[in-house]
Amino acid sequence: MKIAKHAGWTLTIASALAAAVSAGLASTSVLRAQQASGQDVTFTRDIAPILQRSCENCHRPDGVAPMSLQTYDDVRPWARAIKQRTSIGPRAGVMPPWYVEKNIGIQKFQNDPSLSDAEIARIGRWVDAGAPRGNPSDIPAPRTWEDSVKWAIGTPDLVVKTTDIVVKAGAPDWWGEIPRVPTGLTEDRYVTAVEVKEVNDVDSRAGSGRATVGGRFVYHHMIWSTRVLGSAADEANRDPLAFDTDGSTGWPVHEVGRNADFFDPKAARLLKTGSSIVTDSVHLHSNGRDTTAHLEIGFKFAPKGFVPAYKRATYSLGNGVDIDINPMEANQQLHAYAVLPENTKIMSFEPHLHAPGMRMCLEAIWGYNIQTLNCVGYDHNWVRGYHYTDDAAPLLPKGAIVHIIGYMDNSPTNKNVPDPRNWQGSGNRSVANMFIDLGNRVALTDEQFKEEMAKRVASAPGQDVYRGCPLCGVATKQSTKTATSQNPDPQ
Ligand code: HEC
Repeated sequence: MKIAKHAGWTLTIASALAAAVSAGLASTSVLRAQQASGQDVTFTRDIAPILQRSCENCHRPDGVAPMSLQTYDDVRPWARAIKQRTSIGPRAGVMPPWYVEKNIGIQKFQNDPSLSDAEIARIGRWVDAGAPRGNPSDIPAPRTWEDSVKWAIGTPDLVVKTTDIVVKAGAPDWWGEIPRVPTGLTEDRYVTAVEVKEVNDVDSRAGSGRATVGGRFVYHHMIWSTRVLGSAADEANRDPLAFDTDGSTGWPVHEVGRNADFFDPKAARLLKTGSSIVTDSVHLHSNGRDTTAHLEIGFKFAPKGFVPAYKRATYSLGNGVDIDINPMEANQQLHAYAVLPENTKIMSFEPHLHAPGMRMCLEAIWGYNIQTLNCVGYDHNWVRGYHYTDDAAPLLPKGAIVHIIGYMDNSPTNKNVPDPRNWQGSGNRSVANMFIDLGNRVALTDEQFKEEMAKRVASAPGQDVYRGCPLCGVATKQSTKTATSQNPDPQ
């Protein structure tokens, strides 16, 4: 009796829902109520939208992933693997490859593809129920993936292609400079976003026998700048990661599996007229097949006449000297500190570790306060940068200390380490180590810093603590005080 009633109720809900959908008024709360009771989580209605949003950009024909996850038939054989890969938490192996720990630190990032706990649970329930297809008419319209939208930065204003190189199936690792390529630019332009893609002749569906994103690509990384050839900066053969000077601009390192970079709109980087791409250090790593490859570098420009208000911050945060990693030991820590020479807005956090890297935390120390800004997992197959949204980017005063903590696993449980019996120090090879935060930051004058803090406080007034902005709380109090002194209490 009860069951019959319940079934009737479900039917009523279903028809009400169908009516609502046809009226364009699908109520998510009704859907949730139904799901919470564990009933019919279906592919077409509940899972396809998640895959479209967070997986398809890679898992589609010609995407970087080994299989497509667009249709039910594509997805069904992978159901168990999908449950496993989405539910392991922010660590190596999780899908989508995005490792921000959600229980600590700042949680607002641009282009965050991660799944909510509710979505992860929904996928689990769907798989446990036998991965049902559901009503075919529930499926959302397929997403189209044109070539033009393959760029996460949007259609670039300029794409520069490097020359094709061939990496033989059995070639050893190679480091060096590949031929310089003119950008062809005929006027100075400021760049708001940059993205680098490797284009090669490997068939993504043929299977490489190497289940890593690096199994498909041969450019392991590229440290690069743009320079006007023959300029003083070029002649000086300067450090490519150094900060902008006349005739030369450093750009974020390209690495296999790395996402696009967006600069603060007020701190776009200069691409000089007549400049060329100069690759100071390229690391090529064979993927096991003869491969012809080039890189395509997409630039998105600020409007003509744009002048940046902010300059790049000049500190670096990392330690390549004291890296001392014991063999056969998990959970080892590395530490590095920097005192900020200027007021700083941290645009992005980008842990750079190598094979034993498991996790990195970034914290800010100000007076007697220590605040964790973020902790993220790390998988050396997937080098990710985490770009804060503008209303969440840390705003740290001059004199604050930034501290990174690297967690290293040099034990047999870390599959990225070929032989954990070896001691490890620092070095370029993936089996040696780096320990750096490669994030983008800008320096602010006192005036700019106050403006940014005022904007922050206005966007979320009245908080005691503004994570990542130790003076924001004080700034509000000061302004109240000023107001009080200007309007003295009548008493
Ligand atoms: C940025 C690109 C990207 C995104 C986004 C992404 N994947 Fe993947 N996925 C890959 C690549 C590349 C691999 C193979 C390398 C690896 O495992 O890291 C992979 C591997 C997998 C595997 C394991 C396949 C096997 O051989 O066992 C599963 C399952 C998977 N992804 C599911 C998902 C799901 C589900 C989502 C979305 C919730 C997702 N992926 C989002 C690129 C991506």
